[in-house]
Amino acid sequence: MNMKKNNIKESMTYLFEPRSVAVIGASHREGKIGHTICRNILTGGYTGELYPVNPKGGSILGRKVYGDILAVPDQVDLATITVPAKYVLESVKQCAGKGVKHIQVITSGFSEIGNTEEENKIVAAAKEKGMRVLGPNIFGIYSAAASMNATFSASTIQAGHVAILTQSGALGVAMIGKTTVDNIGLSAIVSTGNKCDIDETDLLAYLVPQEQTKVILMYIEGVKDGARLIETLKWATAQKPIVVIKSGRSKRGAMAAASHTGSLAGSDEIFDAIMRQCGVIRAETIEEAFNWSKFLAFSPTPGGKNTVIVTNGGGVGVLATDACEKFNIHLYDDQKVLKEVFDPSTPSYGSTKNPVDITGGAGSDHYIQALSAPLNCDTIDAAISLYCETSTFDSDNLVPMIRDTYKEYKKVGKPISYAIVGGEYIEKAIVTLRKENIPVSGDVYDAVSALGILYRYRHYLDERSDVVDEADLDIGKIERIVDQALRDNRTFLLSDEGLEVMKAADIGIPRSRIARSLEQVLFHAEEIGYPLVMKVVSRDILHKSDAGGVALDLQSKQEVIDAYEAIIRKCKAYKPGAVIDGIEVSEMLESGTELIVGARRDPSFGPIVMCGLGGIYVEVMKDVVFRGLPLNKKEVLTMLKEIKSFPILLGVRGEARRDIEGVIDTIIKVGTILKHCKKITDIEINPIVVYEQARGLRALDARILIRNPKEGK
Ligand code: COA
Repeated sequence: MNMKKNNIKESMTYLFEPRSVAVIGASHREGKIGHTICRNILTGGYTGELYPVNPKGGSILGRKVYGDILAVPDQVDLATITVPAKYVLESVKQCAGKGVKHIQVITSGFSEIGNTEEENKIVAAAKEKGMRVLGPNIFGIYSAAASMNATFSASTIQAGHVAILTQSGALGVAMIGKTTVDNIGLSAIVSTGNKCDIDETDLLAYLVPQEQTKVILMYIEGVKDGARLIETLKWATAQKPIVVIKSGRSKRGAMAAASHTGSLAGSDEIFDAIMRQCGVIRAETIEEAFNWSKFLAFSPTPGGKNTVIVTNGGGVGVLATDACEKFNIHLYDDQKVLKEVFDPSTPSYGSTKNPVDITGGAGSDHYIQALSAPLNCDTIDAAISLYCETSTFDSDNLVPMIRDTYKEYKKVGKPISYAIVGGEYIEKAIVTLRKENIPVSGDVYDAVSALGILYRYRHYLDERSDVVDEADLDIGKIERIVDQALRDNRTFLLSDEGLEVMKAADIGIPRSRIARSLEQVLFHAEEIGYPLVMKVVSRDILHKSDAGGVALDLQSKQEVIDAYEAIIRKCKAYKPGAVIDGIEVSEMLESGTELIVGARRDPSFGPIVMCGLGGIYVEVMKDVVFRGLPLNKKEVLTMLKEIKSFPILLGVRGEARRDIEGVIDTIIKVGTILKHCKKITDIEINPIVVYEQARGLRALDARILIRNPKEGK
């Protein structure tokens, strides 16, 4: 663990393992939040000291009540504040004065409803004394390390191995209930609420190195400091799997999330891409997140990728095969070995091909025989067991069969996932087995997805790298071009300036010259040679094609003269009074694969890069992918492989492979520009024409947006 993380971890220790807890606003009245928290702390087995605080004094649940925090005769590590919003700041100041290490503010009514000013005052008062703040607008914290349930949840919390961080309070409370029913023990559950001070990064710094925590599940509505989160998540997933559920996927959902938590939900595609980049597993539903978390917490690590499906029904076998393809699970297909291993347990009318079909007549002994066969086979690494309810199966033996085979798989360190499909009896069996933390689903897809996620995570670990690649660029030269444009009061670069930036970054561009008159156009045309392209250069015309400011494939002097006159005429008609700075004369390039490469500053995650199928269809196809910084070349290649049209770059129908390395270098370069040139907000190279490997690529157009730092964002 690096020094920075170590320091944060140290600073979080007394939040998760407080030696004493005060509850300010501890209520005498049962059913009130301040009362429930005291009760949960006492009944949850907390071994430290509890100090209820309430000006009315007296006692609550047998504990002496103190009039204010300053009267508590002990050091307080964690103070829980449950007084109405208007009294919170005063309580915070008293806690800071007392030298409390952490406070958690349960109270609502701050930035989530626009009351940011009061929230900022709370943070400032706490910071002054080095006190850290969790919340406000939270249901509290449970930490198994201290057997401390400082939440107002209705259910008791079981200790275990999954840590949950949740931005939604109500959902978090509901999740506690669900973990109890599903027998998912928790190492911690923390409500992060408005994240005015303590955020996921702080909490992960404690939870990731903690041995008891095997998996971390996060519910996120919005990201505030995305760059910090990227760094933390990359560090965290190198050690433990993280499953995330993020709301705000739909546009309406994003609006609801933004108003709910007072934070801006970033664009969903970007969030999704960055989670993948950081090795975080994103679940669509709570059910899925729990299913995966549980599997990841209890399953052994597979030794290799070879998986077999054992089934008593062809249909479910096919469904599982489809799901395996979706999750990139490798179905073992060495027919010779499969036959050897499964022949003894498969009737002649069954199939030893993968899926192994032991047929509808199979009883528990057939299953035990078939599922036991891979245990001693070195080349089979994991199994998916499917069962459709049949009248021939000795159903009383179903639960013991699954329980026993699961135990055997655990013993040899091979993952196995079960799906059992049927009626009431099956439903009951699922509940029984899940309570024992055995991975059994009532749906084939769920059984496969859990194993798929385990493989996805292992694959990420095998591929991940801490290398950061940056291009060695003449940033000063780029900044001089930008500064000139800013002096002209522009928020964008002209096309020739955009290409100048490309040149400075050593990104290939077509040979071109700017002409200020027809004579100069003709001079440059002769110099560059035909065929040619002409484009208007005007600070008043951003979309050149729309204005009729572009002429392609000019083959002769006469065509150049005609095109010149047409461009001037059309642009003047398109925008009367537009200043035409000149005409760009460039070589007409041979066709190649047109991509779009870009970079921009995301409000949540900072600089991000983008690449996709380019040209005029980019808006329609939306075949683009994103990544955040920092980046390395390997990650960029993975990113490129996510573009649906990636096979085009590999060369289709006998075409040569395109210069993929050149594309990777270009993406690294635009990322580097955005990282170092703070005045550039957006770069969009579209199209960038990619040729065969040795022939490189050419940026045809680079739109660059800039901002005057003095004018803010
Ligand atoms: N110091 C200590 N105790 C104080 C106090 C102070 N400065 N001021 C008031 N109190 C006491 C009150 O006397 C009362 O105790 P009592 O019941 O024994 O009389 C107790 O604190 C609570 O105050 P009360 O005015 O009854 O408030 P409440 O319990 O109705 O509501 C909150 C307080 C914090 C629960 C409420 O304001 C709130 O924010 N609720 C939403 C919480 C939430 O949903 N959070 C997010 C979850 S996801």
